[in-house]
Amino acid sequence: MRGTRLFFAVCLVVSAAAIVLVLAAVPPREVTAEAAAGANVWRAYRCEGCHTLYGMGGAYAPDLTHIYAQRGADYLREFLVNPAAFHPGGRMMPAFGLTRSETDNLLAFLQWADEQAASWPPRPIQVAGGGSIGLESDDAGTTASLPADPAARGEYWFKRPPAICATCHALAADTVIVGPSLAGIASRAADRVPGQSAEAYLRDSIINPGHFIVPGFPDVMQRNLGEKLSAEQINDIITFLLTLE
Ligand code: HEC
Ligand code: HEC
Repeated sequence: MRGTRLFFAVCLVVSAAAIVLVLAAVPPREVTAEAAAGANVWRAYRCEGCHTLYGMGGAYAPDLTHIYAQRGADYLREFLVNPAAFHPGGRMMPAFGLTRSETDNLLAFLQWADEQAASWPPRPIQVAGGGSIGLESDDAGTTASLPADPAARGEYWFKRPPAICATCHALAADTVIVGPSLAGIASRAADRVPGQSAEAYLRDSIINPGHFIVPGFPDVMQRNLGEKLSAEQINDIITFLLTLE
């Protein structure tokens, strides 16, 4: 128990210092009275004992730097009233019984934190050249070496022109290049858009990337991939993505 308390105490000191540093380093842009009051609520309830902002604080619970953009105010309001109702079976967060104005201020603070940190987290550096991306642009476009298996063909096209999906999407988990990692996409795809099957969602992601924007990511996927890729190439890529469970 003493160790745990010490852990939290250290986290608290480190993150308080970190927040002071961040506040000092960032030009004072629109820190509203609500956001400032929200920072006090954040400290008063020791949110940073468990959570990080800008990666600093306690590592027990998720980083909340972009939680405002990811979840939105309505979701966060409900979550804070009854956190236990949200992700049963996982680590649980205590309900703090915040007052209405404490919650309003806290949300203003989280919104401010999100906007201050547009480029957080920094992109991981791909040290192994193209190796970790798996980029292979050699024999591009030659059909002689095309694999016979549709999923293998899909992976082939995933890494090669004309689309080179792999310049923006890693297949390693939790690695963000420009777009999200597609590790496990087959398991997520069916839950993205209500009424859309995994297959339909993946097809739409390629042909109409603007339809659904993955929260926290920029809307920068090219609009013309549906024309650059043949129908067959798209089918193969989808078959490949559906193997990533
Ligand atoms: C004792 C540790 C602890 C403290 C203190 C704590 N949290 Fe959490 N929080 C968690 C855990 C664990 C999760 C992840 C579990 C979950 O999402 O239900 C979480 C998740 C969250 C989420 C994400 C919910 C989602 O679904 O994405 C938000 C927002 C949040 N906490 C806000 C806060 C705020 C604001 C405070 C301070 C008032 C706070 N937390 C204090 C442990 C804590
Ligand atoms: C220029 C960078 C870029 C390229 C190239 C690119 N994407 Fe994306 N992609 C993104 C970004 C950024 C997002 C997240 C924003 C969004 O949803 O549009 C995304 C989202 C996705 C998603 C949704 C992921 C999810 O978790 O729901 C899929 C699937 C996807 N892309 C597949 C592909 C495929 C297949 C190709 C190649 C045919 C490709 N992308 C090429 C940048 C790119």
